[in-house]
Amino acid sequence: MKNVSILALETTCDETSIAITKGKKIISNLVYSQIKFHEKYKGVVPEIASRAHSEKIYELIKKEKKHIKNVNAIAFSRGPGLKGSLLIGRVAAETLSKFLEIPLMGINHLEGHLSACELIGKNIEKIFKFPLIALIVSGGHSELWLVKNYGIYKKLGSTRDDAAGEAFDKVAKLLGLPYPGGPMVEIMAKKAKKDSSIFTVPDVKNSLDFSFSGLKTQVAYYIRDKKKLTYKDKIEICASFQKACVNSLLKKTIIAADKYKPRQIAICGGVSANGFLRRAFADAFSKKRIDLLYPQKEYCTDNAAMVAVCAYRKLEQNKLENNIEIDSNLEI
Ligand code: KG4
Ligand code: ZN
Repeated sequence: MKNVSILALETTCDETSIAITKGKKIISNLVYSQIKFHEKYKGVVPEIASRAHSEKIYELIKKEKKHIKNVNAIAFSRGPGLKGSLLIGRVAAETLSKFLEIPLMGINHLEGHLSACELIGKNIEKIFKFPLIALIVSGGHSELWLVKNYGIYKKLGSTRDDAAGEAFDKVAKLLGLPYPGGPMVEIMAKKAKKDSSIFTVPDVKNSLDFSFSGLKTQVAYYIRDKKKLTYKDKIEICASFQKACVNSLLKKTIIAADKYKPRQIAICGGVSANGFLRRAFADAFSKKRIDLLYPQKEYCTDNAAMVAVCAYRKLEQNKLENNIEIDSNLEI
């Protein structure tokens, strides 16, 4: 693997990204965020996303011109994600692979999020100790996995309705905060002077599944019933919502950890950037002798470096991942 170079593309949602590895190093990771196209709608508009990917991806590939001739494999996220956006990534990746006459690998985007935990600085390192529990919390997914080894997964739970990131974004929208809502809710919540619990923690009984749409509805009704919403009210709503959401993620992760006794818990995906979440998990797990892993902040949200790391691990195990069909609902 020392001289292997992988080019990876990521286009599942609203980030267009390309990364290149050389041996264990990420030598480039360019991420183009489409926020400016979606912010006025306070959410990702699928058609706008595909158009923006198709306009940007060739520009990003061109920027990597000098590395491309040395690449040995092309990898791309084949799902889950937005169909039109996935298709742009697939067409670009397949064109490169055919033109360069090198293998094309279809990678699961969520497996990519998990792989991001093994990026230290720009280096791919062996960090995972199995069994581990993965909590994937992004704009589109909230899932708990038991990971027995690289590529060996059992899904323990997932969301019955909205994803955690989606709930953050919707609450931000209800409060008139800018898109993407997650980081804004966190910033507002930090300003809270007191610990308040306006909202109850959502709980799907006897299951490791999550549910966040009820919590979002509680927020919507609370806002509706308030005559006038002050800045202080908004702060209290953000802090209270964030606490309920994180407590729900934490509760199920604790149950899973008590049952499966993992050596590590890896928390990844956009919401894993949240500082309140990281502190709550640190408090809960410090006594249990289970290591907590997170991606570095720049690798929490969508990027192609994580896809490249995942492809690197597959190649290491001689898995070519030659299923290149896009699948917007791809499962592990
Ligand atoms: O992983 P990601 O980039 O995209 C998906 O695969 O969905 O995650 C994006 C999500 C958005 O919902 C965004 O609001 C949320 O991650 N997010 C956060 C934070 N940073 C990003 N949520 C809470 N706190 C944050 N600091
Ligand atoms: Zn993602």
